[in-house]
Amino acid sequence: MLRKCTKNDIQYIYKIYFHPTVNPFMNIKTMSLNDFSDYWAKRMINEDIFVWVEGDKIAGMICINQESNRCSGTVTLCSLAIHPDYHNKGLGRKMVNEILSKLKKDKIVRVQLIVEEDNDKARPFYKKLGFEEEGKLRKYFNREGKFIDEIMMARLL
Ligand SMILES: CC(C)(COP(=O)(O)OP(=O)(O)OC[C@H]1O[C@@H](n2cnc3c(N)ncnc32)[C@H](O)[C@@H]1OP(=O)(O)O)[C@@H](O)C(=O)NCCC(=O)NCCS
Repeated sequence: MLRKCTKNDIQYIYKIYFHPTVNPFMNIKTMSLNDFSDYWAKRMINEDIFVWVEGDKIAGMICINQESNRCSGTVTLCSLAIHPDYHNKGLGRKMVNEILSKLKKDKIVRVQLIVEEDNDKARPFYKKLGFEEEGKLRKYFNREGKFIDEIMMARLL
């Protein structure tokens, strides 16, 4: 089930964000739960953040940012992750599809994101969900001193 993120979810989001197989693809370096709580609380003010609840557990999250003015038909997705305990069970697909349906109702016409070139799970995942690669941001992402290209992907609704 998709629902809006609340402050009570932050400790569970922290566990997903800093899982060793997830964190290399998140735009944040290691930090304490306290520091992360402050960082996430600020993001909750400025972004639309949703969690995917499976049973009584937070299994994933996704952030939505609507662009402004003449670009307001576009939404940028970020910080999308499913906890590895739940990978390959179709939850990522369900979560993104629910978001896309909601955005379509809201008259959004374009949904975009960036993904690291070496993210061999997420790139095929997004392609399966109808996103197309549109370009490259060279050496945009710094992972422990190694600069990695970002692939720009988008799909129209
Ligand atoms: C990418 C991610 C969200 C996928 O979530 P998931 O719940 O495991 O994906 P699903 O089970 O819903 O898979 C949906 C489709 O993507 C495909 N897919 C998922 N993982 C894949 C992989 N490792 N390799 C190839 N295809 C994959 C599936 O085959 C499936 O297609 P199908 O239904 O036709 O079989 C998850 O691996 C993740 O959280 N990764 C770490 C964080 C991350 O990289 N986030 C992206 C940041 S840009």
